[in-house]
Amino acid sequence: MYDLFMKHILSADQFSKDDILSLFRVANRIRHFPEDWTDRLRGKIMGTLFYEPSLRTKWSSETAMLKLGGQVISEPNAFENSSAKKGEVLSDTFRVVSKYVDILVVRHPEPNIIQNNAKYSSVPVINAGDGSNSHPTQALLDLYTIYDHFSLDRKLKILFTGDLVASRTIHSLKQLLNLFDFEILSAVPDLGGTKEENCIFESQIPSLLPEIDILYMTRTQQERPYHSNSLFMLGGKEANSMKPKSIIMHPLPRINELPNYIDDNPRAVYFNKQVKNGLWIRMALIYSLLKDDFYKKGL
Ligand code: NCD
Repeated sequence: MYDLFMKHILSADQFSKDDILSLFRVANRIRHFPEDWTDRLRGKIMGTLFYEPSLRTKWSSETAMLKLGGQVISEPNAFENSSAKKGEVLSDTFRVVSKYVDILVVRHPEPNIIQNNAKYSSVPVINAGDGSNSHPTQALLDLYTIYDHFSLDRKLKILFTGDLVASRTIHSLKQLLNLFDFEILSAVPDLGGTKEENCIFESQIPSLLPEIDILYMTRTQQERPYHSNSLFMLGGKEANSMKPKSIIMHPLPRINELPNYIDDNPRAVYFNKQVKNGLWIRMALIYSLLKDDFYKKGL
């Protein structure tokens, strides 16, 4: 699996089914025997370079590194506090900071900029979100949550709601789901006009909820130039119309599409499962990338 990963984690479509399942096995081991992992990356340093706000992804990546015995150096506001302010391009920043640290976690508002510049880093780069394009580690933790709940041993029906246009978590998760047995449905706002195959209108959601296994909700990405104008908000009765074993997922942050009266519904897994799974998956990923220091072989 490690060779297939190559050096960087840039996009969900770089993984094979086998890569993903072996990563999940590592995450399971970490989760069940956390005490065995506390010292594995002693002496290694992670740099987190965020050009866009983040708390969850940044903290869970950093916590993952700390729990593996590594250390972290962090820049949460890189547009203001790095030489980007003076006009430095990302390739130059990567060339410099990768000489200090052993792994970089980077978020940026511009789609594909991390992918296009990763080659200038001499250490692994993890894409922590590039604009509306992709968010591979969120997709891995989302799929791990589904795998943990359903085992992936039968066909599952998943419905995406919210901002289908600008949600990078949806784009990346769909890439992973395509490797497995999923029926994927997406709800688009009822603005008239045509809808693509496998799309339903938001007004059809309530009638579909009793049939689906996973409801994956997202917020409207107001900060993106092209975002959808989704109006769907999940009601308590609608949530209860779902199958008892179904789950309601959200990458967070949630705004008003997911009212807090849903939080106590037994189907809601965003606070109790997804968040914690993010830690195990990121630990598994960081460990896998740094374990043999294989990137050094190429230097
Ligand atoms: C998501 C993101 O940043 O894309 N958040 C996250 O990383 N969990 C979702 C979002 O911002 O809406």
